[in-house]
Amino acid sequence: MTRTPRYRLAHDAPENHDADLVAVGVYKNGGLSPAAERIDQASGGRLRRLLESGELDGEAGGTLLLYDLPGVRAARVLLVGLGEAPVGDAELAKAHGAAAQLIARLPVVTAVSLLAEGATGARLRRAVLACDEAFYRFEAFRRAERPLKLRTLVFDCGTAPDRGRREALRAAEAIAAGVRLAKDLGNLPGNVCTPRRLAKEARTLAARHEAVSVTVLDEKDLKRLGMGAFLAVAQGSTEPPRLILIEYRGGGAKAAPVAFVGKGITFDSGGICLKPAAQMDEMKFDMCGAAAVLGLIQACALFKLKRNVLGVIAAAENLPSGQATRPGDIVTTHAGKTVEILNTDAEGRLVLCDALSYIRRYKPAAVIDIATLTGACLIALGRIPSGLLGNDEALVEALRRAGERSGDRVWPLPLWPEYRELLKSPFADLANVGNREAGTITAASFLSHFTEDYRWAHLDIAGTAWKTGNEKGATGRPVPLLMDFLLEEAP
Ligand code: BES
Ligand code: MN
Ligand code: ZN
Repeated sequence: MTRTPRYRLAHDAPENHDADLVAVGVYKNGGLSPAAERIDQASGGRLRRLLESGELDGEAGGTLLLYDLPGVRAARVLLVGLGEAPVGDAELAKAHGAAAQLIARLPVVTAVSLLAEGATGARLRRAVLACDEAFYRFEAFRRAERPLKLRTLVFDCGTAPDRGRREALRAAEAIAAGVRLAKDLGNLPGNVCTPRRLAKEARTLAARHEAVSVTVLDEKDLKRLGMGAFLAVAQGSTEPPRLILIEYRGGGAKAAPVAFVGKGITFDSGGICLKPAAQMDEMKFDMCGAAAVLGLIQACALFKLKRNVLGVIAAAENLPSGQATRPGDIVTTHAGKTVEILNTDAEGRLVLCDALSYIRRYKPAAVIDIATLTGACLIALGRIPSGLLGNDEALVEALRRAGERSGDRVWPLPLWPEYRELLKSPFADLANVGNREAGTITAASFLSHFTEDYRWAHLDIAGTAWKTGNEKGATGRPVPLLMDFLLEEAP
């Protein structure tokens, strides 16, 4: 939906780039980056004099726009603070984000970043993604106030483009498109983005990409499969549920897939345990796990990743009605375990448990579920990292590393068996909630009863999937994390 520039690699002398703007970096101690040094020389010391006057302190993300520097072909030179040298990955991304935000407001059609000197791999991908983040607009229901003029953003890393950097850029463009898809779907309201709409989005991916195929299970199928927990969530809404299976085949015919299972509650009112009205609108974002799965599959397909990936979306709407599940109702899951639904607002784990036990048949190499699962995760970790739990130490560690590299961070919480005590029910095998303690862990603990047959990790994205307040909107996280994981770590 959004307009976005093409990203390219090129190399030239900084003062020679034929563009509307070149961005060059300055360090915190007042030092010039190599590119800034060249521009300074070409312009007879203009940059040094400016910096000595204290116009820009080099703090990462600070900017100063200059016009018509003598000896420089581009009409604009954007000075961007990089923080202290050596420049960190986060500072480089921040500098790119700030530069891109400024560029987005200018009538600039072509621009060159000379900020990412020497960057390759994950560091370069992250810089590109930081730019794309700044260019995103949600335009499904109205035109953007300031449409983006920029058509091409060139990265000059200080050397002739090589194979590694071309691959990094290709990956970054694929991830950026996946993030934009995840944001667009997340931002759609509950009356538009229904379970059936999510199924349609999956089918669109399959139609566009040869390597993607989709199977959609409807209410009848879910009944036949005995998915009593999943159905209990959906039964209060007139919108029918869907279990969406998306297969991306980029690897060998026999290679086990890595599976990603997304929570797709298209609106979470809480059901009979109705949520308070304040900010209830944000529960349209309760399908951001599902949106991330679609974004990730799209990124795999665009990049032509050489692996098999299974995307799974458990989609339903959680509403109160005369047909809705009551607190105290007992249901039988696909796995055969019975669950006492003490709180109808703990619905994510109910749709996920049936999806998680269903996919045993795919014999996945690893399973990662992605869910806006608990408000408690926001309380524990805030909005910086996603919560990370799992039953396999190596998988958890691999995700942590991917989080650090991509900047789409995660932080572990323990999943000790002792926590299972909190989910005991006097009437069924499991209760769907514990008490108020350790809410994120008990939710994961519930899921762990259904994931014992494979290596599994759980991402609680309640704090990271969307921004609240003035900048309200979906973030597209954790698509960058998961693609980094697939590119560099997946088993
Ligand atoms: N989708 C919510 C979790 C949520 C709440 C995410 C607020 C982001 C912001 C989830 O379905 C839910 O309602 N969880 C309950 C669980 C509780 C009933 C044990 C919660 O967090 O309050
Ligand atoms: Mn809920
Ligand atoms: Zn929910």
